[in-house]
Amino acid sequence: MGGSGILGAAMDEPESSASAPRYTMPERLLGDKYEAVTPIGRGGMASVWLGYTHGEAGFRRKVGIKRVLSHLHEDEKFAAMFVEEARVVAELNHPNIVQVHDFGRDLQGGYFIIMEWVEGVNLADYVRAYARAGEKPPWPLVAAICIEVLRALSAAHSRTEDSGRPVPVIHRDVTPSNILVGSNGVVKLTDFGLARAGDRPRTTDPGIVKGKVAYLAPELFQDSKPEPRCDIYSLGVVLWEALTARRMWNMDQSDVKLAMSILEGKIPRITELQPDLPEPLAEIVAYATARQPRDRYARATEMIDALAGMLRKHPEPTDARAIARSVRVVNAYLAKTTTG
Ligand SMILES: Nc1ncnc2c1ncn2[C@@H]1O[C@H](COP(=O)(O)OP(=O)(O)O)[C@@H](O)[C@H]1O
Ligand SMILES: [Mg+2]
Repeated sequence: MGGSGILGAAMDEPESSASAPRYTMPERLLGDKYEAVTPIGRGGMASVWLGYTHGEAGFRRKVGIKRVLSHLHEDEKFAAMFVEEARVVAELNHPNIVQVHDFGRDLQGGYFIIMEWVEGVNLADYVRAYARAGEKPPWPLVAAICIEVLRALSAAHSRTEDSGRPVPVIHRDVTPSNILVGSNGVVKLTDFGLARAGDRPRTTDPGIVKGKVAYLAPELFQDSKPEPRCDIYSLGVVLWEALTARRMWNMDQSDVKLAMSILEGKIPRITELQPDLPEPLAEIVAYATARQPRDRYARATEMIDALAGMLRKHPEPTDARAIARSVRVVNAYLAKTTTG
């Protein structure tokens, strides 16, 4: 890749910071096409950036960039997971899954993923905004958002090889912050960082990040093989929490105690906390979060049917326009409360 184009030229002259400071920070340049601009999140193994892909004639497009944290560049286990994430997601073409466009390595040797940029909020912030305003997100919208996530899960779970052989992908990290609610009302599941494709031997896990334990299915603490029902359980917890705008488990306890509570499986029915929620919805949540995998929905599509059946009996609109409207409300509220 030569020194043509604005980025290439800047890379040839790293000292000329006066004219174009942004382009002379090599750590923000990823090859001669991508530029990481604003850090927006940092997890256990990677940072996520808003950035641009640059083309000819000043063409640029917003992208999401996920980069391995520099202290992990030499860590082969993390590298293997990251490569796996890119590989798995690249093959999942679905409107409810954040698309991966490219995969590369920066000048420092760190891997990065280029993905579609989703303008909007993650579900954790979405629910938090309502909670801070002393409200709860409207349950029909929460149900509609979950249906979209279930569509993504269904696509991942029913993935097949070109030959037709099933090679399901289990997400294993279905949490509110991995669900992106777009300003356009389109919901997308992201962060397949822990996902495994069924056609690959399991790479060793470098441990579950703190805060994620609360969404893990009980059988995973007993070394069961991840299966679609694990993701359904996690989404059940997400649904429980979004409907009640509170955490399902006491988050002040240690991870070991938390795991014990999960194994015990005593989950309060949402209608005990919030009697105004419809009883059939409480039933769906209880079914998804059943202690025994065999007592849960076997497939994401079964849970879609149950939630969609419920929504049909309620006249409020829950389409993308209605979700988009609620994201505008949330964004306005977040802007107001964070600037003063
Ligand atoms: N493609 C994207 N578009 C917009 N925001 C994103 C995108 N990817 C991630 N984010 C934001 O960054 C956060 C962390 O991203 P994620 O992929 O979940 O990384 P981590 O492994 O650190 O959890 C998300 O909760 C979301 O708010
Ligand atoms: Mg995440």
